[in-house]
Amino acid sequence: MTGGADERASAREAPKTKTRAQPERQPCEPVAPMKVLTQVAIIGGGPSGLLLSQLLHNAGIDTVILERQSRVHVLSRIRAGVLEQGLVALMEEAGVGDRVRTEGLLHDGTILAYDNDQFRIDFSAHVDQPVVVYGQTEVTRDLYASLDARAGRIFHGVEDVTLHDLDSDAPFVAFSHEGQEKRLDCEFVAGCDGFHGVSRKAIPPSVRREYEKVYPFGWLGLLSETPPVHEELIYANSERGFALCSMRSPTLSRYYVQCNLDETAESWSDDAFWDELRRRLPDAYSECLQTGPSVEKSIAPLRSFVCEPMQWGRLFLCGDAAHIVPPTGAKGLNSAASDVHYLNQGLRAWYSEGDREAIARYSERALARVWKVERFSWWMTSLLHRFPDQSEFDLKMQRAELAFLREDSAAQEALARNYVGLPY
Ligand code: APR
Ligand code: PHB
Repeated sequence: MTGGADERASAREAPKTKTRAQPERQPCEPVAPMKVLTQVAIIGGGPSGLLLSQLLHNAGIDTVILERQSRVHVLSRIRAGVLEQGLVALMEEAGVGDRVRTEGLLHDGTILAYDNDQFRIDFSAHVDQPVVVYGQTEVTRDLYASLDARAGRIFHGVEDVTLHDLDSDAPFVAFSHEGQEKRLDCEFVAGCDGFHGVSRKAIPPSVRREYEKVYPFGWLGLLSETPPVHEELIYANSERGFALCSMRSPTLSRYYVQCNLDETAESWSDDAFWDELRRRLPDAYSECLQTGPSVEKSIAPLRSFVCEPMQWGRLFLCGDAAHIVPPTGAKGLNSAASDVHYLNQGLRAWYSEGDREAIARYSERALARVWKVERFSWWMTSLLHRFPDQSEFDLKMQRAELAFLREDSAAQEALARNYVGLPY
C-alpha cells in the first residue's frame, strides 16, 4: 500500500484513519504540507527498514516507511546470499520465515582454495549451526509481501527527505511525494537508508566519528542460470586474484572475481569472465564449471566503514546507513539484521514498559557486534585478495595464514564461529 492520503497514527493520538480535507487554497497562500503521523518513521525500504517495520508492527508499534526508489527497483538489486541463523530467526519472529525455511539451502561448511588445492571448513564440527543460502532479493520480497498483507504504510518514490528536531521528543521528517510536500510527524526516526542515504549526515559533524578503509580493488559479479560448480561456496586466493563461487539455488549460480577499480562490467564479455574464473579455481573445479549467458553482471567497490555513534537524539541508524563491510565475510545483510534486533528490542521496551535504558544503549550494543563483524570481514579480505602493493613477504604471510588455517582446528573454529554468526 502506498501512503498518499493525510494519514494518522501516533502514540500521541489513537490511530485514526480519517483524512482531513485540505482547506480551500487561496491564491498566493502557502500550502501547508500534508501531514502524516506515526510512532516510528523509517527512512529506507531495503532489508533493514522492512524487517524493522515488520517486527515493530508485530508489537503494535506503528511505522511509516519512506523509500526513494520504486519497489521494482528495490527488488531488482542483486546483493548477498548467505544468511546467519540469527537473521533467519528474526525473519521467523517477523512472520516471514516460511519460504526461507523451505527454499533456503543449509550449508554446513565452505571451501577455501589456494595453490591449485583446497580444504574445507566444517562449520558443524565447531559450531552447532549452519548458514542458509538464500538471496537478499528474496528476503526483501518476503518482507514486501508481508508489508502488503498488513496494508503497511510505505511511500515509494519520495524525494528531498530531510530530518528535523531529532534532539526533541517530537521529531519530524519532511519529504515530497508525487509532487506534494509532506510532513511525517513521529516519535522516533530509524535511518535505514543505506550508505548513500541522508540519515547518517543528520548526526552533527561535531558528534559523528567515521572510520573507513577503501580497498584498491572491486568485485565483478555474474549471475547465471547454471548449476553451481560445487555444492558449497568456494573462496579462492589465486595469483591472479580472488574468486568466489556462490549460488542462489541448484540452478542459479553467483560468481565473483576480484577486479581493478578502473574496470567496467561492460568491458568484460561473458567468455572473458568464465576464462578468468577458471584460471583462479583449482583444476578440480575449473574442469567441471558449467558456464552460460550472464543474467546480471556488475562491479561493486569494497570498503570498510563505521559511523559512531549510531544514534543521536531520536534518530537511530541501522545497517548500511551506519556501517559497510567488504562482502568477503558475507556480513552486510547479517550485520543489518543484528542492528534491527537491538533497535526492535529498545523500541519495544520503550513503548511497552517505558524503559528508556535499552534504547539509550542501542548504539553501544550494536557497535560492540559491528566492530567484530568489521574485523572478520577485513581479515577474510586481507587473507584472500591480492593487493597491488603486496611484497613477496606479504604473500608468504598470506600463504602461512592459509596453511595454519588448514592445519589448526582452533583457527578453523574461529573462522566458523564468525562466519555462521556471532551471538546477538
Ligand atoms: N530517502 C529514502 N530512501 C532512501 C534514501 C533517501 N534519501 N536514500 C536511500 N534510500 C533507500 C534506498 O533506495 C534503499 O532501498 O534506502 C534503502 C537502503 O537499503 P540498503 O542499501 O539495502 O541498506 P540496508 O537496508 O541497510 O540493507 C543492507 O543491503 O546493500 C545491501 O550490502 C548491503 O546486504 C546489505 C544490505
Ligand atoms: C553471494 O552469494 O552473493 C555471496 C556469498 C558469500 C559472500 C559474498 C557474496 O561472502
